[in-house]
Amino acid sequence: MEKKDINWGELGFAYMPTDYRFVSNWKNGAWDDGALITDPNIVISECAGVLQYAQTVFEGLKAYTTEDGRIVCFRPDLNADRLEASCKRLQMPVFPKDRFVEAVREVVKANAAFVPPFGSGATLYLRPYMFGSDAVIGVKPATEYQFRILCTPVGPYFKGGVKPLTVRISDLDRAAPRGTGNIKAGLNYAMSLYNIVDAHNCGFDENIYLDPGTRTKIEETGGANIIFITKDNKVVTPKSDSILPSITRRSLLQVAQEYCGLEVEEREVELAEIGEFAECGLCGTAAVISPVGKIVDHGKEICMPAGMTEMGPVTKKLYDTLTGIQMGRLPAPEGWIVEIM
Ligand code: PLP
Ligand code: COI
Repeated sequence: MEKKDINWGELGFAYMPTDYRFVSNWKNGAWDDGALITDPNIVISECAGVLQYAQTVFEGLKAYTTEDGRIVCFRPDLNADRLEASCKRLQMPVFPKDRFVEAVREVVKANAAFVPPFGSGATLYLRPYMFGSDAVIGVKPATEYQFRILCTPVGPYFKGGVKPLTVRISDLDRAAPRGTGNIKAGLNYAMSLYNIVDAHNCGFDENIYLDPGTRTKIEETGGANIIFITKDNKVVTPKSDSILPSITRRSLLQVAQEYCGLEVEEREVELAEIGEFAECGLCGTAAVISPVGKIVDHGKEICMPAGMTEMGPVTKKLYDTLTGIQMGRLPAPEGWIVEIM
């Protein structure tokens, strides 16, 4: 298979239409067989549930080329599980896990020419999503839905690759207590747009959100969970009901313990204690692990001892180990790597 003529090393995190996308429709209480199609456009009712009441959920995962030339995906079953949780919360039908994983395979295979080569620094990002597609005017769930998976080759999420980021403590909240912060609903991102544009205008790479109940504890950023490393090399990550259960973060905790021999703690993290940590990183599918060099809390700068030029040593070890597993350089725990071709 001949690869597309793309300058892989120059890719940022942006959308580029690829050759095929998977589509399945829910109507009269059942999913149809689904198919790969070539048309990137969607025609739906002007009154569709997604347009009126934001009834839409999504996922994000990647396909990687391994050093020995295979194409693999990382834990797609967990994306299917999280999509199920998101769908249930927004009164949407569940797309069965086995069909989800099969559709991921089909999309990656059909777009194999867009999977960036090993060592290019780029990957194929897959975006499974579902939305209410028929008309609703009263506030209620749609009765018809569309599930799709699009894919696009991407480079680093943050400009500058793995250069440490400067993030700020946000004055706005991304989630409400007992709200939807723990699912991947489009509405959680719509309400973050004002704040991310403002953060960028003020010179920050991202917003750190505090717990919406008390605003004293660290939660996550707009698009990634957070890990901290203590001065004695423990991995600490915030525990909260209103953050997204990141697949990267959950994998990293296991990697830290089983591959790197590090202690891990999932617990409440006070805003007041972040000056005591040695390293900080943002973790997610798009972010992978992006190091944080400086956290700014209303003018007060909290500088991570790891500095602003490179990733701290423990973060680097975790990064190398996780990406080593994802790219087939290191043996993976059972079931983590799904071979596509
Ligand atoms: N938190 C938020 C708000 C996100 O949007 C994402 C991205 O998916 C994550 C965390 C990281 O989750 P994952 O590691 O499953 O990609
Ligand atoms: C992902 O990491 O897959 C996300 O959905 C995060 C988003 C900021 C791109």
